[in-house]
Order: sequence, then C-alpha cells, then structure tokens
Amino acid sequence: MAGSLDGRVALVTGGAAGIGRAATVAFAKAGARVVVADINAETADETMNLLRACGGESLFVRTDVSQPTQVEALIAGVMEKFGRLDAAFNNAGIEGKRARTADSADSEWDRVIAVNLTGVYLCMKHELRAMVRAGRGAIVNNASVAGQAGLSGHPAYVASKHGIIGLTRTAALEYAKAGIRVNAVCPGLIRTEMIDRLTGGVPEALAGLLATEPVGRMGVPEEVASAVVWLCSDEASFVTGHAMAVDGGYLAQ
Ligand code: NAI
Repeated sequence: MAGSLDGRVALVTGGAAGIGRAATVAFAKAGARVVVADINAETADETMNLLRACGGESLFVRTDVSQPTQVEALIAGVMEKFGRLDAAFNNAGIEGKRARTADSADSEWDRVIAVNLTGVYLCMKHELRAMVRAGRGAIVNNASVAGQAGLSGHPAYVASKHGIIGLTRTAALEYAKAGIRVNAVCPGLIRTEMIDRLTGGVPEALAGLLATEPVGRMGVPEEVASAVVWLCSDEASFVTGHAMAVDGGYLAQ
C-alpha cells in the first residue's frame, strides 16, 4: 500500500494509543500527512515520535471529541495548516464501566454515548463540510463487532456502536454523489489497553474473551489499521456505506 495516499491529509481521532496510533503510522507509511487528535497529550507524544520517524509531516491537536467547539476548532486547524482533509478515521472511544442494563448508572450511559456516538457525529459533521467543499474524501468510523451483535454488560457501548453503523450508512447515502465515501470497521478482540482494562489483567478473563474468537487469538492494531487505510484509498473507490468486520471470524458465528 506504500504511496496509496501520497500528498493527502489524514485525520485520526484517538490517535494517541492502540488502534488509532497504529492507524496514524499506517497512514504515514502510505504517504499521507497525519493529524492526530486525542484528549491525552502525554500519550500523543509517543505517537508523534513514531510519526517523525516515518519522515512525513504531522500535527497533534488536543481534542475531546465529545465537545462541539473543540471538534470545530480541530477541523478548522487542519484546514488552516494543510488546506485539505482527504481521509478521516473517527476512532476515539471508551468502553465504560461494566454493568448490566438495570444496574447501569445514567451518568455512565451519558459519558459513553457522548464520546462514542456524539463524538463520531460531531467529527463527521465538520469533516463532511470540509470534504464537500473539496468534492472528495473518505471517512472511516470505528464501530466494533458490538455494532452488529449484543455484548452482555455493556449496554451503552453496544448502543453507541450500533449507532455508529447507522450514522455511517446515512452519511454514505447523503454524500455518495458528492464524491465522499463513508464506511465503518468492526474490529473484534484487538490487543490494546482497552482490553487490558476490560480484563483487569486477569488471565481467566482474557481466556474467556479469547474463547469467543474463531481464530483463537487476539488481533493486533495494525490489522485494523491496514483495513482503514485501504478503505480510505482509491483502491476502495466503489466501497461506501459498508461496515467491515476485522474480527477473526467473530461475526461469522
Ligand atoms: P485505547 O483505549 O487503547 O485508545 C483509545 C484512544 O482514544 C486513547 O488514546 C484515548 O485517549 C482516546 N480518547 C478517549 N476518549 C477520548 C475523547 N473524548 N476525545 C478524544 N480522544 C479520546 O482503545 P482502542 O482499543 O485502541 O480502541 C479504539 C477504538 O476501537 C474505540 O472506539 C473502541 O471502541 C474500538 N474497538 C476496540 C476494540 C478492541 O478490542 N480493542 C474492539 C472493537 C472496537
């Protein structure tokens, strides 16, 4: 894929860690200039070091994707620095505290929906405005296998991820004739800090999750990142409104 995004500008939200960080590196290796948006400036430093090592231009903008004014300022900042936005990976997300529906705290519901669902909506809104002006662009939203199946103990997370797929399909239809493609990825179990937090480092908890993966292993962030870069490249020019499983067969069960 080297060079498939030469000269383009790619934005990754939640780019300071995990899947987002791997995506920033994959975009840079494909030739894109990369904008990293994340709430965590400290961990973003490591991403920026990796991007510098790739050699291309990059920019970090501290952003809480659940905050409308911050998202608007992020896209304005991208346009000011680079004058274009060709690709966006709306990836920032949180898992929330584990609790069954009847035991969930309302504040936890609000927090997860605000970051995962409202965050993707806000990012898409401002990205689409910039892309419509240019007459081209590609957006990939990070959903989850939990966007296509239930997951006990995570009602807000599952609702937010199903919502992301609905938003993706709607925007794909709205902007198909404007030259903008909008897709989602649905990762299965991917080795990141989110999984460490979910399992609490307890081997039995990890083994329980692994037992649900047909391939018998976790994926790595790079395996999601390569799907995202492909979806943003011209190789995927006829792919829009799609929710692509990157899940080791989880959703095939
Ligand atoms: P992670 O926790 O390793 O990284 C998430 C990044 O998002 C962090 O850098 C964090 O600072 C940032 N972030 C959190 N809240 C933010 C906010 N309000 N504004 C801006 N940035 C914010 O998580 P991971 O595993 O890399 O997950 C990334 C995405 O992939 C999430 O949307 C998650 O739901 C999704 N996903 C992850 C899977 C996994 O197995 N790891 C499976 C399926 C989906």
